[in-house]
Order: sequence, then structure tokens, then C-alpha cells
Amino acid sequence: MSSEVESKNRDKRWDLRRMTALVTGGTKGLGHAIVDELAALGAIVHTCARNQEQLNESIREWKEKGFKVTGSVCDVSSDAEREKLMKEVSSLFDGKLDILKIMLNHEDQAPAVIKRLKERLKQIWIAMIN
Ligand SMILES: NC(=O)c1ccc[n+]([C@@H]2O[C@H](COP(=O)([O-])OP(=O)(O)OC[C@H]3O[C@@H](n4cnc5c(N)ncnc54)[C@H](OP(=O)(O)O)[C@@H]3O)[C@@H](O)[C@H]2O)c1
Repeated sequence: MSSEVESKNRDKRWDLRRMTALVTGGTKGLGHAIVDELAALGAIVHTCARNQEQLNESIREWKEKGFKVTGSVCDVSSDAEREKLMKEVSSLFDGKLDILKIMLNHEDQAPAVIKRLKERLKQIWIAMIN
């Protein structure tokens, strides 16, 4: 099979157009690669990170590629900032979130904080899609 045909088949199988995604920690490393991949497959992606400059730079890159990616500055270990993020995402995506990917640098945060954070984000996400 030619690489062009393979690419078309892959695109059909993984067509994410009209799907919405929230990827936390999308400005660096694996989170950045995940945003890239989801957006390349057509998903509308929102991401967040704590560093405003890196977030702006990433959003600029994605815009140049024609990807639909928005972003917020948010420290997801903060209850208040997390709730604010979910309100923004809910409003942006009209209450419809299909994909939630939580990426963080675990070395920065205590395991108990990470566990609580993931549980809470999942609860909010489930509430949003129901
Ligand atoms: N890299 C690998 O090869 C690899 C392999 C296996 C598993 N992992 C795991 O994958 C996860 C990500 O690793 P990585 O290497 O991609 O990390 P990274 O390059 O340090 O990127 C972490 C991302 O999360 C953001 N972030 C960190 N803390 C945050 C917070 N409290 N609120 C919001 N955003 C936050 C960072 O931006 P700001 O700093 O601006 O907030 C950045 O965008 C880690 O849990 C790691 O253990 C990584």
C-alpha cells in the first residue's frame, strides 16, 4: 500500500472532526505532542499550562498549522483555577467534551495531589458530558 493511501486510510479511521478535547499540560513534552496529534486529526482542542509565554508561543505555532487550539493559563493543582478552567471549557465547547487527557509533570507535584486532581477533573468531565 502506498504511503498516500495509508495516510488516507489512517485519516478516515481516526477522523476527529467535530470532537472536542481538553489536554492539560499541552505546552511541552507529551502533552504538546498529544495536542498536535488530536488537532491534526481535526479535533477542537483546549489546553492549559501555568506559563503564559510558553502557552502563547504554542498557540501561535498551532494557529500557523491551521489547527483549532485555544488555551488558558491554569495551575490545575489549584481547586479554584481548575473549576474556572472547566467553566471556560464548558462555555467554549457548549457543554460537550469528548476527550479528556490529563498531562502534568508528576515530579513537580505530590502523588496525592495528582490523584485528587485526576479524580476531580474526571468528575467534572463526567458531569459535563451527562
Ligand atoms: N517524557 C517522557 O518520555 C515520558 C514518558 C513516560 C511518562 N511520562 C509522563 O508524562 C507526563 C508529562 O511528562 P513530560 O515529559 O511531557 O512533561 P513536561 O515536558 O515537563 O511537560 C509538562 C506539561 O504540563 C504543564 N504543567 C505542569 N504542571 C502543571 C500544573 N500544575 N498545571 C497546569 N499545567 C501544568 C507544563 O507547563 P507549565 O510548566 O507551564 O505549567 C507542561 O506543559 C509526566 O507525568 C511524566 O512522568 C513522560
